[in-house]
Amino acid sequence: MRMSSKSPIRTAVFPVAGRGTRFLPATKASPKEMLPVVDKPLIQYAVEEALAAGARRLVFVTGASKRAIEDHFDSDQELETMLQQQGKSDLLNQLRSVLPSYASCIYIRQPAPLGLGHAVLCAQPAVGAEPFFVHLADDLIQSEVPCLAQMAEVYEAKRASVLGVQVVPRSDTDKYGIVAVEADRSPTSRVRSIVEKPKPSVAPSNLAVVGRYVLAPSIFEHLDKIGRGAGGEIQLTDGIAALMHEEAVYAYRFTGKRYDCGSKLGYLQATVEYALGHPVLGRDFRKYLENLDLDAIATPASTRRRSRRKR
Ligand code: UTP
Repeated sequence: MRMSSKSPIRTAVFPVAGRGTRFLPATKASPKEMLPVVDKPLIQYAVEEALAAGARRLVFVTGASKRAIEDHFDSDQELETMLQQQGKSDLLNQLRSVLPSYASCIYIRQPAPLGLGHAVLCAQPAVGAEPFFVHLADDLIQSEVPCLAQMAEVYEAKRASVLGVQVVPRSDTDKYGIVAVEADRSPTSRVRSIVEKPKPSVAPSNLAVVGRYVLAPSIFEHLDKIGRGAGGEIQLTDGIAALMHEEAVYAYRFTGKRYDCGSKLGYLQATVEYALGHPVLGRDFRKYLENLDLDAIATPASTRRRSRRKR
């Protein structure tokens, strides 16, 4: 599969206006998308994936406490001069490659966290009438060919919206948008129905939509019309369900490993595995883990107090 610098999809939307309540208090003043996995914030992995898939216009839908994201992608002359004076050219290069010069950033404010569908609708003025990527940075996907590049290929073949999907345990269907598809065995198949967070007993399958989408611009008219759905939020899933009445939508089982970095456990798993695969740290970190005496690790006092209170 080729990397899609010729991809017809030029715009990537990053909804980063959620409150990240599962990560409080870490996310009280700083967005969860700025949580680092080893040495890069989640949002930087997201931007790198979108650029590798051919996107050049990066649209961030931001909310409260999201200034750090703008600052991260802005140049920092003071820091660059300091690193230059100190002769730290490696660090300087790393800093300068955070955002290549051919990419541009647009920031749009979501006035209130009314749901993912509403966040995507807020991006409409920046997206216009073209197909676009939606990337949820807290779903970190490790793969040889970046997930969005895989999906851009599917878009080119089908010329229709594509949802990144993954099989999940049936007990977890109430955490995801769940799709029923026409041919369950092929990686790409047409979606027959989609429902947001169904209980395991009524879920149409265990094929879950994770945070990668290629959407046709016609999604906007549907998002504009649907009301609040599950959890009182304007759901992207409901917009896609409405879109499916008019045009085909495909589910694509991507190749790669997904880490749910919106949950503490998923975030820790990503941290450990990315650290083990890190070109500089990997070997030392592996040695550290091999020598770790798990029985001798003390539980921090604050955690002990919390779990006692729970009981
Ligand atoms: P989540 O369902 O993970 O919600 O949002 P959240 O608020 O970020 O996190 P928790 O559940 O409270 O811990 C999925 C994605 O949609 C974005 C989030 O930033 C995240 O990328 N989102 C959600 C918005 O941009 N706006 C919203 O109103 C809701």
